[in-house]
Amino acid sequence: MTDVVVVANRGPVAFRLDAGNLVASAPGGGLAGTLRPLLAGTGTTWVAASLGEAARLAAERGQLDTDGIRVVAVEIDPADYAMAYDVVANGTLWPCHHHLFDLTRRPRFDWHWHEAWAGYRRYNRAFANAVAEAAASGATVLVQDYHLSLLGSMLSELRPDLSTVHFCHTPFAEPAVLGVLPTEAVGELLGGLGGFGACGFHTERWADAFRRAYADPELAEAAGTPAPPTFVSPLGPSPEALRDAAESPPAVAAARRLAEQVGTRKLIVRVDRIEMSKNLLRGFLAYEELLETRPRWREQVVMAAFAYPSRETMAEYLGYRAEVEHLVARINERFGRPGWLPILYDPADDYYRSLAGLAAYDVLLVNPVRDGMNMVAKEGPLVNRRDGVLVLSRQAGAWEELGSGALGINPFDVTATADALEEALTMGAGERAERARRLEALVRRRTAADWLEDQRRAAG
Ligand code: F6P
Repeated sequence: MTDVVVVANRGPVAFRLDAGNLVASAPGGGLAGTLRPLLAGTGTTWVAASLGEAARLAAERGQLDTDGIRVVAVEIDPADYAMAYDVVANGTLWPCHHHLFDLTRRPRFDWHWHEAWAGYRRYNRAFANAVAEAAASGATVLVQDYHLSLLGSMLSELRPDLSTVHFCHTPFAEPAVLGVLPTEAVGELLGGLGGFGACGFHTERWADAFRRAYADPELAEAAGTPAPPTFVSPLGPSPEALRDAAESPPAVAAARRLAEQVGTRKLIVRVDRIEMSKNLLRGFLAYEELLETRPRWREQVVMAAFAYPSRETMAEYLGYRAEVEHLVARINERFGRPGWLPILYDPADDYYRSLAGLAAYDVLLVNPVRDGMNMVAKEGPLVNRRDGVLVLSRQAGAWEELGSGALGINPFDVTATADALEEALTMGAGERAERARRLEALVRRRTAADWLEDQRRAAG
């Protein structure tokens, strides 16, 4: 894969300084963690933003390359990075694609925002220059995610010899929601994506929304370019890597701790970043409704909520976390009794503890309001040992593949979610086993390696 360049905001390793010493750790975010083992030992070039002082030091010392992956760090001015990552990528494009705009108040496209858009453009430009410099003649360039939407048109001008692909890990906004963005910005966005040789999505639904944007008269005029070819390639977990991790000593120790906490009670699990699209609040409210309207479940069930912090440079995420934690505390206060805490809430970013939860659930609740794929919904059925039932939002990309094995919910309907939890908790052993088998088979149809291969193929 020496002729392949992967481009993503995050690199394969994160760095921090500990008492002046450089410490390398696993990257944040599921995407980088998925890509790294796939690319290990392949000689692939990975272009990523240089995040923070420690990463800069690692670059200076030539310590960026890892696992046989050549890492190219893109230096971005910190103010530009904050504008690109916080204001545009996560503050605007993320809520746009997840249909999370609160139109009474947000977004507001004022002069600060337009300045941030210029920062997003410079961030994309810095990446385009770095790729243009690093890529061999005729190389295949696989660009990941909404942070880098403008790279297609930039690279087609700078390096027309490259085969470029963009893969979108989020949903893609419906044209009406995309139309909320300022005309010039949405034009630049669609024009940027239109410059790629192909654009990939986890589901047909997101690919269809993308193509319809270019068919919308106003958006098409702003874009000034036709839709590029699209392809659909659902990402799946790497079953062997997941099984090894689930059987590793830290996962076994975490499983023991969890079993002690849960005892003989039924266990509902959720594992999410603390993120508005994940719909944690309605998930907890549904659990509260279950305890309220079916009192027989009190003391008989525990919800383990492994919800780890995310994007905490942004006020919205901090505010959402505070709301989530307040709700959890209120429910525990209201229903908790000596010896029974209804919600075991743990905001530590602990992969092995999350795996222990996935191995042990009776019910896995995955209820995003909208989600590109949702890997938890796929990882759960692979590692679970109790014929656990998956309660899954019909708005998650994973629904397209797993719907026939899961209990589907409208993520906005708290009562329907409480009903689905009840149905899952009371389901007979035969049906549980049958559904668990079906889900596992559905998940195994697609691995992370298949997904990567699809991108290479789409590049032609
Ligand atoms: O789902 C989209 C995505 O960008 C993933 O690619 C990534 O793993 C996740 O969100 C986390 O995002 P961040 O890099 O902002 O922590």
